[in-house]
Amino acid sequence: MISLITGGAQGIGFSTAEHFVRRGDKVCILDRAGVAEAREKLGADVLAIEGDVTNPADVDAAVVRTVETFGGLDTLVTAAGIVAVEQAMDVVADAFMRMMSVNVLGSFLPAQSAARHMSENGGGSIVFIGSVYGSVGAPKRTAYCASKGAVHNMMQSLATEWGPLGIRVNALAPTGVRTPMVQDLIDKGIYNMVGVRNRTPLGRIAEPQEVAAAAAFLSSPEASMVHGIVLPVDGGWIANGYTW
Ligand SMILES: NC(=O)c1ccc[n+]([C@@H]2O[C@H](COP(=O)([O-])OP(=O)(O)OC[C@H]3O[C@@H](n4cnc5c(N)ncnc54)[C@H](O)[C@@H]3O)[C@@H](O)[C@H]2O)c1
Repeated sequence: MISLITGGAQGIGFSTAEHFVRRGDKVCILDRAGVAEAREKLGADVLAIEGDVTNPADVDAAVVRTVETFGGLDTLVTAAGIVAVEQAMDVVADAFMRMMSVNVLGSFLPAQSAARHMSENGGGSIVFIGSVYGSVGAPKRTAYCASKGAVHNMMQSLATEWGPLGIRVNALAPTGVRTPMVQDLIDKGIYNMVGVRNRTPLGRIAEPQEVAAAAAFLSSPEASMVHGIVLPVDGGWIANGYTW
């Protein structure tokens, strides 16, 4: 298969690129930074493009280069994203808009560009990286939760429009994942606190490889009838209402 992964230079996107290379995909990563270093680790066959997922020209160029280089595009995984931890009363408009821009528009634009190609070339599969915070709220994460809720809902709308075109659309909802995005929380021991462990029946946060494996499933022919879902990768975090 031929795959494009946004945010592929580190974290969940990078692990997904590693997994897809291992399964034999032709892989293109698109990231605003770190693409040369990532390509060194992933291998010379990987196409690495620097660009911003909120810029339609960058996104279209990545899709065009993927198709020109590898001869098509079967799978898109949108792993570019940002997080912020701030009291709702302190969030300024620009920061809120930036969150929505990167996490929502920055997921929509690659999906739209990929779907334009896929719809005329036999279909494909799109996997959005959402979050458990797309389904529940949390203090100090209002903008992030709003953005991930939007991604989950957008996924459902796109599934209704693009399913008839042969494009499967799904999302993953990871719990905390050991990536550079949350390294400071890991360093401070917050992800090992009793509250996190108690809420998570499996007792730990996720590794990026575990999210990559779920993305591999959703994008594969094994998931040919899986469409329009949010698949938690959370060790049971969402399922558990008993936290005390
Ligand atoms: N790490 C977690 O605990 C966790 C949990 C649930 C969901 N997620 C989601 O998974 C996705 C990936 O997160 P991660 O933990 O791998 O983060 P990360 O910060 O390690 O990696 C994100 C990548 O996206 C890139 N990026 C950010 N903005 C971009 C832009 N405008 N254009 C192009 N590239 C851009 C960054 O350069 C980086 O390489 C995000 O959407 C995040 O919200 C992460």
